[in-house]
Amino acid sequence: MENVLVTGGAGFIGSCFIRHLLRHDIRVRIVNLDTLTYAGSLDNLADLPDPARHMFVHGDICDRELVANLFRQYEIDTVVHFAAETHVDRSIIGPSAFIQTNVVGTFSLLEAARDTWLGRRASGRHVKRFLHISTDEVYGSLGPTDPPFSESTPYAPNSPYAASKAASDHLVRAYGHTYGFPVLITNCSNNFGPHQFPEKLIPLIILNALEGKPLPVYGDGGHVRDWLFVEDHCEALEIVLRKARDFETYNIGGDCQATNLQVVEQVCAIIDQLRSDSPWAPHRSLIQFVTDRPGHDRRYAMDTSRIRGELGWQPRHTLAEGLRETVDWYLSNPGWLDAIRANTGYKEWLHANYTGRVEGGTG
Ligand code: NAD
Ligand code: TYD
Repeated sequence: MENVLVTGGAGFIGSCFIRHLLRHDIRVRIVNLDTLTYAGSLDNLADLPDPARHMFVHGDICDRELVANLFRQYEIDTVVHFAAETHVDRSIIGPSAFIQTNVVGTFSLLEAARDTWLGRRASGRHVKRFLHISTDEVYGSLGPTDPPFSESTPYAPNSPYAASKAASDHLVRAYGHTYGFPVLITNCSNNFGPHQFPEKLIPLIILNALEGKPLPVYGDGGHVRDWLFVEDHCEALEIVLRKARDFETYNIGGDCQATNLQVVEQVCAIIDQLRSDSPWAPHRSLIQFVTDRPGHDRRYAMDTSRIRGELGWQPRHTLAEGLRETVDWYLSNPGWLDAIRANTGYKEWLHANYTGRVEGGTG
């Protein structure tokens, strides 16, 4: 691993991964291709260790000429593909961008890599690897007593987001199978941590609680997610890149199932402690049950025995530790939140997603 193309590296997980890799591998050079949608920001890359080994390219993964040029110009030997539209609620309101970026964009990257790595001009000098970052949502929804998703659970995506990620996983797998192309796929559970765009549950709750606004919990709040602190995810990805066999798939998760209501209550309790002078304490009094998400998956849970057993990875943070670090970060970085409020159409998003939801509604 010398010349790494990271896509979506100005987003939440991609920027954390870049920080992690620069810190832990003193040789790699990183080309970061990101089109800077509302979810991507150069602010997320402001504190990189050894920034000279990171180069930012403002561009779209769907731009095949640009992508092919980057492969050739920088002799890319490793791709770590994060770039995606990532929010389920946005995919329900407007699925089109999800198909474009998640499916067509992944195809564009695969084609550039195939051409450069397997084509007539391929030098064959280095081992190459294409790591595709995916989600547990491709497996669909579990009942309360079902065993967790394993790597052989059949795909059954339920939202446009999950379906677009499933489609991209299938393309990646097919390139591996058909062309002997060096692919790896990871499917991870819900991440949380610093720099997450406040459309996702945990940062949205933190932001609303700090402003004394209602904390919207969809349906009855009993939906279960498996939560993983983002730095633990990034460490897992680095280990996969170094140690995994080509064509392998790994489930990554925190082995930490909690209902949304439990998570929201934990976040409120931490804010109560850190902001004891807040006029809105106890912040749990701001919780409001609102109309459910259409097609809302009830439960996700991950069986992570393969990555633990084969590669020796395990998460370092408990949910409580990760939440404390996360809340601390948001409290210490009001400027980051101000920039989001000012530059990303955030108010319009809140209006589009929450205005029609009725308090106490479950339908
Ligand atoms: P994010 O929404 O925070 O960031 C996505 C990044 O991709 C942004 O910087 C955006 O500008 C960029 N991007 C979007 N479209 C692009 C395009 N066409 N060309 C180039 N760049 C583009 O997402 P995230 O939460 O960091 O997720 C990263 C990856 O991890 C995604 O593939 C997602 O499916 C996967 N994943 C996320 C989670 C989670 O809980 N956040 C869990 C499992 C898997
Ligand atoms: P989210 O962070 O959007 O991630 P995902 O849909 O990928 O799991 O949502 C996490 C859970 O929180 C999910 O079950 C939906 C729920 N949720 C709410 O209850 N209220 C909200 O305002 C949001 C954004 C999510």
